[in-house]
Amino acid sequence: MTATRTDTLIPAKLLAWYDRHARALPWRAPPGQTAPDAYRVWLSEIMLQQTTVAAVKPYFAAFMQRWPDVEALAAAPEADVMAAWAGLGYYSRARNLVKAARAVTRRGGFPDSEEGLRDLPGVGAYTAAAIAAIAFGRRAVVVDANVERVVARLFAIEEPLPGARKAIREGADRITPEQRSGDFAQAMMDLGSRICTPRAPSCDACPLAGECAARGHTPERLPVKAPKKTKPVRQGRAFWIEREGCVWLVQRASSGMLGGMRALPDDGWSAAGDGSGEPPVSGAWEEAGVVRHAFTHFAIELGVLRCDGAPANMPGEGEWWPVDRIEDAGLPTLFAKASRLARAAGERLL
Ligand code: ADE
Repeated sequence: MTATRTDTLIPAKLLAWYDRHARALPWRAPPGQTAPDAYRVWLSEIMLQQTTVAAVKPYFAAFMQRWPDVEALAAAPEADVMAAWAGLGYYSRARNLVKAARAVTRRGGFPDSEEGLRDLPGVGAYTAAAIAAIAFGRRAVVVDANVERVVARLFAIEEPLPGARKAIREGADRITPEQRSGDFAQAMMDLGSRICTPRAPSCDACPLAGECAARGHTPERLPVKAPKKTKPVRQGRAFWIEREGCVWLVQRASSGMLGGMRALPDDGWSAAGDGSGEPPVSGAWEEAGVVRHAFTHFAIELGVLRCDGAPANMPGEGEWWPVDRIEDAGLPTLFAKASRLARAAGERLL
């Protein structure tokens, strides 16, 4: 296929815009400069999967300070990495992060092709393309949700998602340049997050307005999305057991939801549960309230019960954790919310 004028005009205009308007982000090289360290690019791309730039920034800084290179991360105990990840969500990313760091260290560096990168745990098609382009200057077609929106509008692709993905990918392929493919990918992301926004896009400020097939035809309707399914709601219970200024924490099974994370004991909140699971020890249980939290495929209503006083030799595996250092326990958000409720209830009961 020979390139049309549009195919070369779009990347040229977009890169010129990026040279002036690129977001300065801690994992990026400035436009047109040598690619940054692959470790920074990989770490940021894993953190940015399903997560906003604003949420990622403090975690990225903390990880870089604590584990400045891939060898340092490879040498870290998995539990430390899981605890440092607490609050970012999608915890399988943290487990895969450690596995991938160890694989990279064993092989003496990051693979520099999309294909090689895809062999790393936690690196799928999108992430491999992003790292190959941004860290290694390879031409790769990088399509995330922002890019999807920009391309669907540029070419006025009317087919609903997910069916539209093939046409969107072909569109993105047509306009991805041989040179500066990493800058191009990040320019598309910046355009999508700042100008070509889901609602009320700023078409007047868009460098691609002259090339955009949706301009003036209500671009905000694109891409057309399949109607959202409502999430099933599960019910469950979590238990705050306090004794001499400490709370009983367990480690969740390594497979399954929030696998390997420190947590409050709970009743399993399985799909079939009705939120009335029995506490692990008998005692004077008080209701502390209900936590609502959304995961990708379901939401949960978690009743929180608290009990003051417990046997020192608790049944099952766990540890007594000082209540005044609970923020350092690395609890995932669901249990951090439950802990706040339980502590507030404890203060009311005093
Ligand atoms: N989202 C995913 N990767 C990104 C990047 N490199 N810059 C900004 N947002 C992103």
